[in-house]
Amino acid sequence: MRLASIISALEWICTIAAATSTQGLYDLVERRLPRHSQNFAFVLNETLHLNETDRQNDHYTIATSSNGSIAISGNSVGALATVLRRYFVDVAHVDLYWFIGSRLDQVSATLPRPNATITGASIVPWRYFFNTVTFSYTTPFWSWSDWELELDWLALHGVNLPLAWVGFEKILLDAFQEVNLTTSQILPFFSGPAFQAWNRFGNIQGSWGGELPLQWIDQQFELQQKILSRMLELGMTPILPAFTGFVPRALTDVYPNATVVNGSQWEDFPTELTNTTFLEPSDPLFSELQKIVLTKQLDYYGNITQFYTLDQYNENDPFSGDLDYLRDVTHGTWQSLKAANPAAVWVMQGWLFTSNADFWTNERIEAYLSGVEVDEDMLVLDLFSESQPQWQRTESYYGKPWIWNQLHDYGDNQGLYGQIDNLTINPIEALANSSSLVGFGLTPEGQEGNEIMYALLLDQAWQRTPIDTALYFHDWVRTRYSSHNNTVPEQLYTAWELLRTSTYNNTNLTSNAVSKAIFELAPNTTHLANRTGHHPTTVNYDPAAVRDAWGAMYAASAHDAALWTNPAFTHDFVDVTRQVFSNAFTASYTALIASWNAPSSASNETGSGTFEPHAQALILLLRTLDPLLAALPQFNLAPWLASARALAPASNSTTTNEIADFYEYNARNQITQWGPQGNINDYASKSWGGLVGDYYLPRWLVFLEYLREVGPEGYEDAGVRQMIAGVEEGFQVPGNGLGIRENSGDVRSVVESAVVPALEKLGIIQ
Ligand SMILES: *[C@@H]1O[C@H](CO)[C@@H](O)[C@H](O)[C@H]1NC(C)=O
Ligand SMILES: *[C@@H]1O[C@H](CO)[C@@H](O)[C@H](O)[C@H]1NC(C)=O
Ligand SMILES: *[C@@H]1O[C@H](CO)[C@@H](O)[C@H](O)[C@H]1NC(C)=O
Ligand SMILES: *[C@@H]1O[C@H](CO)[C@@H](O)[C@H](O)[C@H]1NC(C)=O
Ligand SMILES: *[C@@H]1O[C@H](CO)[C@@H](O)[C@H](O)[C@H]1NC(C)=O
Ligand SMILES: *[C@@H]1O[C@H](CO)[C@@H](O)[C@H](O)[C@H]1NC(C)=O
Ligand SMILES: *[C@@H]1O[C@H](CO)[C@@H](O)[C@H](O)[C@H]1NC(C)=O
Ligand SMILES: *[C@@H]1O[C@H](CO)[C@@H](O)[C@H](O)[C@H]1NC(C)=O
Ligand SMILES: *[C@@H]1O[C@H](CO)[C@@H](O)[C@H](O)[C@H]1NC(C)=O
Ligand SMILES: *[C@@H]1O[C@H](CO)[C@@H](O)[C@H](O)[C@H]1NC(C)=O
Ligand SMILES: *[C@@H]1O[C@H](CO)[C@@H](O)[C@H](O)[C@H]1NC(C)=O
Ligand SMILES: *[C@@H]1O[C@H](CO)[C@@H](O)[C@H](O)[C@H]1NC(C)=O
Repeated sequence: MRLASIISALEWICTIAAATSTQGLYDLVERRLPRHSQNFAFVLNETLHLNETDRQNDHYTIATSSNGSIAISGNSVGALATVLRRYFVDVAHVDLYWFIGSRLDQVSATLPRPNATITGASIVPWRYFFNTVTFSYTTPFWSWSDWELELDWLALHGVNLPLAWVGFEKILLDAFQEVNLTTSQILPFFSGPAFQAWNRFGNIQGSWGGELPLQWIDQQFELQQKILSRMLELGMTPILPAFTGFVPRALTDVYPNATVVNGSQWEDFPTELTNTTFLEPSDPLFSELQKIVLTKQLDYYGNITQFYTLDQYNENDPFSGDLDYLRDVTHGTWQSLKAANPAAVWVMQGWLFTSNADFWTNERIEAYLSGVEVDEDMLVLDLFSESQPQWQRTESYYGKPWIWNQLHDYGDNQGLYGQIDNLTINPIEALANSSSLVGFGLTPEGQEGNEIMYALLLDQAWQRTPIDTALYFHDWVRTRYSSHNNTVPEQLYTAWELLRTSTYNNTNLTSNAVSKAIFELAPNTTHLANRTGHHPTTVNYDPAAVRDAWGAMYAASAHDAALWTNPAFTHDFVDVTRQVFSNAFTASYTALIASWNAPSSASNETGSGTFEPHAQALILLLRTLDPLLAALPQFNLAPWLASARALAPASNSTTTNEIADFYEYNARNQITQWGPQGNINDYASKSWGGLVGDYYLPRWLVFLEYLREVGPEGYEDAGVRQMIAGVEEGFQVPGNGLGIRENSGDVRSVVESAVVPALEKLGIIQ
């Protein structure tokens, strides 16, 4: 043994004394960089404050210690995890990412040592992550290893306050049983695996296509235990669910005198699936259930947090708009939380004030919030701060602590998108202007992509002035594509600079979230392009910028063919190609509809006029895009379906297949019809291999065939809808094999054999 390694070994032993707090960090290094943890010495120093007036924030230092180890000190485990990423990114130039996983192993064999001491501090005590619906759009079928990557990502990015919804149905089931409801009275209340978020919100009740199996409830509860212990090891404070008041309808069979009201109808769901029964907080049974729910979590998990997520009116209207009623609801709910856990802090998503601004006048918001008489007992998530902030109009939620959040996307839609100036300038301004702002966070409906926009806000939480985004993008490119061959071709910097100043610099807030491809929407002669609101399709930049970024990336691959084996490059190249195709589709579609509407082409025949070339362009775009997307698992439908089926019990019995089929049906339904009858059709659509070829393309083929035959005068909307609905319904059936593609893994061959010829043919590139 050489001296250095003996010293490292000794240091390792020394740190075991502090294992209860820093062990999670050594474990993280071992997970991602096996046999390298002895290079690090983590020191938790609770009195480390670089700035004596700033004790509530996280502080850190990194240095090379006299014995050569990388010495990382911080005043919290969360601070230590964040600093560890600063070391990886700023000194070693490696990082870990969504979709492509950890690239930390690309570090040079001898870990570089920092030259000088690096110091830093957070500017807000809390960094928050997740939206209640992320648990249904992104994570419903995740395995433990998916969660391990996610939790490492969160810790390294400084998140110390994550939502933790997984497995809550186990707690609710236990609680309702304890107040004498039977299992068969409770299970019909729960929604399917892909729809639990909206059941937890009280928007929907029950399930379509089958009932939630007990097996799901038990298995998710086991997963939650792993998730929570890992969160704690990594220095995070989880936010646990609480009892909201939404109950099975059968509750009134057992308690005929319970004070209940019917919640409102959500979207256009039929009454049996919505109008969820709400037990008023004034009823003593509410407090009893709250006590049971919180106590069960304390028993199962320990007294691990003071934070509880609890939303009663997220896209639900209160029974009454009367100010006293609203105040009493929060007051009773708050009292029930405090009675069950004196430390409880109620965390609320502030979305209702945005989405139902007509109901939520300032007077009502103030009344509702004032029911919680101690401001510090509540924490409000300003959910969509980059586009529809509510903190100014509510005078910082009338004094309640709150968090500035980026929402960014609806329904896990894909599209290159960001508000780069808003994200760096506005949270800093908010901090200067609101004394009750206590954190920055991310509330994506789905973890769709555009990862740089998410990393940017979390990094902004550690800088007092707006980040210089030109520099930030440059460093991002260098780290993202670095590998053992550490030269990043210049064209990649060019590509990202083009994206930074176009797709990532949206300033037109008429359309203010990720914009999706129109080919993902049910074909129509109107209402597809330039949509705003919940199915945004507006492109607020010059599409030529993305095409040029694509060109620069392609040129980079010609310069350095090794990029084709770099998973960061193949991911980004497929993603940018997807956007080029999406934009080209909109252009061809617009031309097609114009030619169809032009009187001279009303009786177009195949091959004549301008209609047909545009129709062929649409078909070519979809046929070419499908195999490209399928080449990578993260853009392929099959892994989503397989991950759903994989959560069913592993055996060949008939019941097993039924459970697997039910999970698969949930997975298919959410991203297409979203509801038993296409209730919010295409809301959570995806540009995924398999889905493009076997779902979107058939819908467009049916539609184009119809338009070839029928001009504007003869067009019958209901008939068209019916034909398209036929395709939609056929796709729902589990086990039908539709959309199943192998991951070829070979992006290069699809690009060279199909993508480039198609773009040339369509005149998009020369
Ligand atoms: C902890 O930090 C304080 C303040 O920087 C410093 O004085 C002290 O020596 C540190 N303690 C250890 C054990 O490093
Ligand atoms: C120290 O912390 C205070 C309070 O958070 C802040 O206003 C000040 O700018 C900080 N000083 C430095 C040098 O970061
Ligand atoms: C250390 O300093 C040298 C000279 O300033 C610089 O070239 C090198 O990049 C630095 N290394 C690290 C790991 O910061
Ligand atoms: C549930 O039933 C048991 C046995 O009948 C009874 O002792 C208990 O009080 C009931 N619990 C509630 C909350 O009504
Ligand atoms: C329900 O309320 C009615 C009227 O207040 C009362 O007569 C009855 O005893 C109550 N029933 C139960 C089961 O508490
Ligand atoms: C469901 O809610 C809607 C309001 O959103 C209401 O008009 C309707 O009457 C409710 N239905 C039931 C059965 O409560
Ligand atoms: C949980 O711990 C907190 C902080 O130590 C304490 O205030 C609270 O009373 C505890 N809750 C319960 C239910 O023991
Ligand atoms: C960010 O968005 C908000 C809300 O729409 C707007 O008021 C603000 O001016 C924007 N700021 C920047 C820098 O774009
Ligand atoms: C974003 O666009 C705005 C308005 O066009 C411009 O003022 C700003 O400089 C741009 N920012 C970046 C990073 O390109
Ligand atoms: C913003 O977008 C809307 C919707 O696409 C458009 O009508 C409007 O002209 C745009 N405004 C500017 C200033 O570009
Ligand atoms: C490393 O990259 C350079 C330029 O980007 C390229 O010319 C060279 O062939 C690459 N080397 C290897 C071993 O891949
Ligand atoms: C096209 O969109 C309009 C407006 O949303 C809608 O009324 C119509 O039914 C749609 N047609 C089809 C075929 O989906």
